[in-house]
Amino acid sequence: MTSPDRISVAQPMLDGNELRYITECIETEWISSAGAYLEKFEAAFAEFAGTRYAVACANGTVAIHLALTALGVGPGDEVLVPTLTYIATANAVRYCGATPVLCESDARTLNIDVDDAAAKVTGKTVGIIPVHLYGHPADMDPLNAIAKKHNLWVLEDAAEAHGAQYRGRQCGSLATAGTFSFYGNKIITTGEGGMVTTDDPDLHGQLTLLRGQGMDPKRRYWFPVAGFNYRMTNMQAAVGLAQLERVQAFLEHRQRLATWYGKHLAELSGFLSLPFTETWAHHVYWMYTIILNEEFTDQRDALMSALSNDGIETRPVFFPLHIMPPYYEAESSFPVAERLAASGINLPTHGRITESDVKRVAASIKELSSTNAALKAS
Ligand SMILES: Cc1ncc(COP(=O)(O)O)c(C=O)c1O
Repeated sequence: MTSPDRISVAQPMLDGNELRYITECIETEWISSAGAYLEKFEAAFAEFAGTRYAVACANGTVAIHLALTALGVGPGDEVLVPTLTYIATANAVRYCGATPVLCESDARTLNIDVDDAAAKVTGKTVGIIPVHLYGHPADMDPLNAIAKKHNLWVLEDAAEAHGAQYRGRQCGSLATAGTFSFYGNKIITTGEGGMVTTDDPDLHGQLTLLRGQGMDPKRRYWFPVAGFNYRMTNMQAAVGLAQLERVQAFLEHRQRLATWYGKHLAELSGFLSLPFTETWAHHVYWMYTIILNEEFTDQRDALMSALSNDGIETRPVFFPLHIMPPYYEAESSFPVAERLAASGINLPTHGRITESDVKRVAASIKELSSTNAALKAS
């Protein structure tokens, strides 16, 4: 339970039909991984994402692993991933015995640097996983062009980008397949949960086969392949459907919230930059992310602690993968990703934030930044 005057960084909104639908699962005793809500949620999500198929699964990490396995990724393969992402993107590649090849970030969108990705393609590369970080789409056309040239697949990691658009098209529908997360802090949630989206009927067949231990759909308890239990439950799907009924309102609120932050933080341009949006992008602001100007990078952690003391919860931008033990690369340098990671802060971004909350956050940052500037000057 958060105290009433504490502003949390993320928070679910479960006050629609969630309780009613989940109660129905219990009353009808359809609580496991079969049931009407699963079918409804998958159909509604496919429509939302603009794809032919949507395959619900246990979380966003296994959604990536399931997609990679269905795409045939295995030992010896290389997969291009941005170094600046949540670790699950790379972990899923490693679960397949393949190697994530880390790429630099674009300074403005925070997403995979397309030129660096092109330069990292080798004879072992099988695919690219662009991540639509914090809700801003990656630059998909050039990535799809690289893939076409080298006969690669592209898997969109849209865990943070429900409803985001690239040149007017929904994220999750822009490549070979897409994956989503429904963790409690996401734009819509099922508690834990994930989804794979695709237009490809063969891939859809592989995804559903592998999700259910590999059981032959026409022959019960006959397993032509070794699959996984990566299924979602009907109860999670019930919550997901109720969330999806209100997703447009959730997305609209995030646009308002970004306008408020833009307005109230505008005068701090000497201290920080606001999130950038490409002309071709519809940014959904899963996390409203500010980047401190270079000379203030070393103030980032102190600022976050001070905000916390003022009752404002924030998050640091992800550490780049190449500096953490599982993916450590002593020889590599990704200066853009490193700078974004060292100076970026995710501000409170969720459905219950009001303009007065935003004003409070901005006032707090303003006060602390002027103290910091004074400290710098002395
Ligand atoms: C970019 C990215 N990929 C993958 C995931 C994994 O999703 P989950 O936490 O549902 O396993 C997340 C979730 O936080 C994410 O942010």
